This record gives sequence, structure tokens and C-alpha cells, in this order.
Amino acid sequence: MWDIGVRLFHWLLVATVAISLATGFFWPWTWLRLHLIAGGTIAALLGFRIVWGLLGTEHARFASFAYPPRAVLLHVRGLARPGEARHLGHNPLGALMVFGMLLVLPAILVAGLVVLGGVVKQGPLAAFLRFRVAWPWLGIHQALAVLLLVMIGGHLLGVIGETWRSRENLVWAMVTGRKPAGNVPAGAVAPAARPLLAGAIVAILLASAGAAIAGLAALPARGVPPAQPDPAYAVQCGACHLAYPPSLAPAATWSGILRDLKHHFGGTDASLTPDLVAEIGAYLRANSAEHWDTLPARMLRITNPAEPLRITATRFWRRMHRGIPDAVFASQQVGRRGACEACHRDAASGRFAPQAIEVP
Ligand code: HEC
Ligand code: HEC
Repeated sequence: MWDIGVRLFHWLLVATVAISLATGFFWPWTWLRLHLIAGGTIAALLGFRIVWGLLGTEHARFASFAYPPRAVLLHVRGLARPGEARHLGHNPLGALMVFGMLLVLPAILVAGLVVLGGVVKQGPLAAFLRFRVAWPWLGIHQALAVLLLVMIGGHLLGVIGETWRSRENLVWAMVTGRKPAGNVPAGAVAPAARPLLAGAIVAILLASAGAAIAGLAALPARGVPPAQPDPAYAVQCGACHLAYPPSLAPAATWSGILRDLKHHFGGTDASLTPDLVAEIGAYLRANSAEHWDTLPARMLRITNPAEPLRITATRFWRRMHRGIPDAVFASQQVGRRGACEACHRDAASGRFAPQAIEVP
């Protein structure tokens, strides 16, 4: 009764939702790539399921389990009675869950795309969204994910309850697609499935969505600094450490650093000629954190009053790196906290993408 499409959809959705929830809630930010792959697969699965709900076999069709609200109420009231009519396909409560998931999952995907675009500056919306607009959507994305967890809990309780009530193995039925026929009232003859048409529509949908996403994602992201630093700056300020991208600190920090290069961070003499100080100062102030919209630029512009010139003293920096043991920073491969490039492969560009993090 459950065709191969419904069953594959169901179990692939279980796997991809499990991966999304695990990578989203429990695993570090650096797993974003897997989170995105799982999200993209869920989107494709939903596209298939919606088409199959219109063109699939009898029990796959939405029309076969679109019960009126009265039927849901009657079903709930009848649950306590043993002789309650049997539903071969989704029962009214199960159907409610299917439609609920078909609303909540796309909402989670959209909220996730907004965060990816405006906060991480990646994906199809990166060219359009500002950090400030996208940031609250992280909370929406997470709240909807919690709602999804609650719905999954309800679904599992329903399956356990129904298995116990009907003494049928519903989980096994979703694996094999078979259920004992029993005393099911014969329904109207269902329209035949249209697998070829459905396959063609899904293929066209996926191809055009893929092309649109790739095209939009190729547009330059909004508020992201150019990847190449000013040559004079790169030579002078990159001699002893990474030439820190100017977007990592506010203009006041850069002015403060240039004011006393003779005693640079407690001792090193990093003096430059007045001409170079003027040139580099103009570059740093014109490209400081206030001018950019990336996550590091938004967060690192708030300095620590106790040590206003240090990027690594900011609250945000400390919070992001508190899970890393001191021994890692002191290790030969890293050396110090300020050696961003030891762990962030894209440090020189100022982007600090989660996918580019690799702690030695
Ligand atoms: C002669 C070597 C040298 C040169 C040249 C140099 N620095 Fe530094 N810089 C250091 C040292 C040493 C530290 C302190 C490292 C530490 O305490 O972890 C430092 C620290 C910093 C930090 C703080 C990093 C953190 O931990 O948050 C910034 C920002 C910085 N330098 C900017 C600059 C700029 C801008 C220039 C160019 C005008 C420059 N540096 C040139 C040696 C140098
Ligand atoms: C020893 C390795 C290491 C060093 C050195 C390091 N980071 Fe990180 N950084 C990490 C890790 C790991 C994370 C992810 C933390 C998490 O999500 O749990 C991270 C997260 C971040 C984030 C936020 C997440 C993101 O990808 O946007 C920013 C911004 C960041 N680091 C900036 C810096 C800057 C700036 C420096 C240098 C001043 C630096 N880091 C030095 C390991 C490092």
C-alpha cells in the first residue's frame, strides 16, 4: 500500500532531518557544510513529495488523506473505543502531522536560507540581505526546529499508540509497504499513478531550482570586503603576523594602534615613516568594521574597554573560542591567539566562513 516513492521519501527524510538537527543543535558551527547538504536534500525531497501527493499511487495522494476537521475530531473521540474504523493509509491524526510537516519544513528551510544569506553571506540570498535583517531569523529558524522536534515526538507517540491499539507493526509497514488487508471498507477507485509525468515535473523543478540557486549564489555578496588587502598594508603590517583584514576592528582601534607603533602591543617596535602611517591609516579607516556587513565585522566592532586594541580581547572573540584549550593556541602550529590563519583558511579575506575552519 505504501509505494516505493513514499517509503524512500519517508526514510530519507528521517535521515536528513536527523542530520540537520544533530549538526544544528549539537555539533559545532564548522559542520555547516553537512547541515547545508542535509537541508538541500530535504528541499528536494519535499519537492518530490508534493508532486507525488498529486500524481502518485492511491495512498500517496493528498486527496486520500485530506480529512475534514470533523473527521479528525470523530477519530480522536473514537480512539478509546476498540472497534474504531481502521484506516489503511494515514489516519486523520497522522494526516494532520503530514500536512503540518509540509508547512514547518519549508518554513525552516526559508528561515535557514535567510540566515545563510544575511549572516554567513553565502547562498542565493547573500547578494540581497543585510546582517541586521537576517540575524533575528536565526531565532525563528531555531524555534521552528524545536517545534519540529515536538512534532516528531507527537508522531512517534502516535505510531507507538496506534501500533499498540491496532496490533499492527506500522514501522515495518513503512519499510515493506505492506499491511494486512483485514476489514477495510472498500473506497472509491483511485486514479492511477502517473510516475513518468511526476518524474519529469520533479526533474524540471530540481533543475530550474538548482540553476536559479547557483545563479543567485554567484552574485557578489552584500557588504563583504574585497579579498585582497592594500599592497603597502600587506607588506608593512604583514611582516610579523597576518595582515589583519581591516574589517576585523573599528576605525578607533586602527587609529589607536597606529598612534604608538614604537611600543606595539607591549614592546615590539613596529615603527613606520609618517608617510606610510598616513597611507596605511587612510586605508584601515576606510575599510574598518563599520563599513562592512560580515559576521566578524558586525561582532568585532564592539571592543573590550579593558584592552581596546586587541581583536582577541573582544567578548565575541572570547565567546567563539572559549572551547579551544590554551595548549592549542600555544602549540607549534598555532603559536598565539592572534594567528587566525592557523585555523581559518580564509582569514586573509576577512570572511571567516565556518566551512573554512580547521584547527590543527
Ligand atoms: C615587528 C613585528 C610587527 C609588525 C611590523 C606589526 N606587528 Fe602587530 N603585533 C606584533 C606582535 C608581537 C603582536 C602581539 C602578539 C601577541 O601578543 O599575541 C602584535 C599584535 C597585533 C594586533 C593584536 C592581535 C590580537 O591578538 O588581537 C593587531 C591588531 C596588530 N598587531 C596590528 C598591526 C598593524 C596594523 C601593523 C602595521 C601597522 C602591525 N601590527 C605591524 C608584531 C608586529
Ligand atoms: C586555534 C584555532 C583558532 C584560531 C587561532 C582562531 N580561531 Fe576563530 N574559530 C576557531 C574555531 C574552532 C571556531 C568555531 C567555534 C565554534 O563554532 O564552536 C572559530 C570561530 C570564529 C568566528 C566565528 C565563526 C565564523 O566562522 O564566522 C570568528 C569570526 C573567528 N573565529 C575569528 C577569528 C579571528 C579574527 C582570529 C584571529 C584573531 C581567530 N578566529 C583565531 C578556531 C580558531
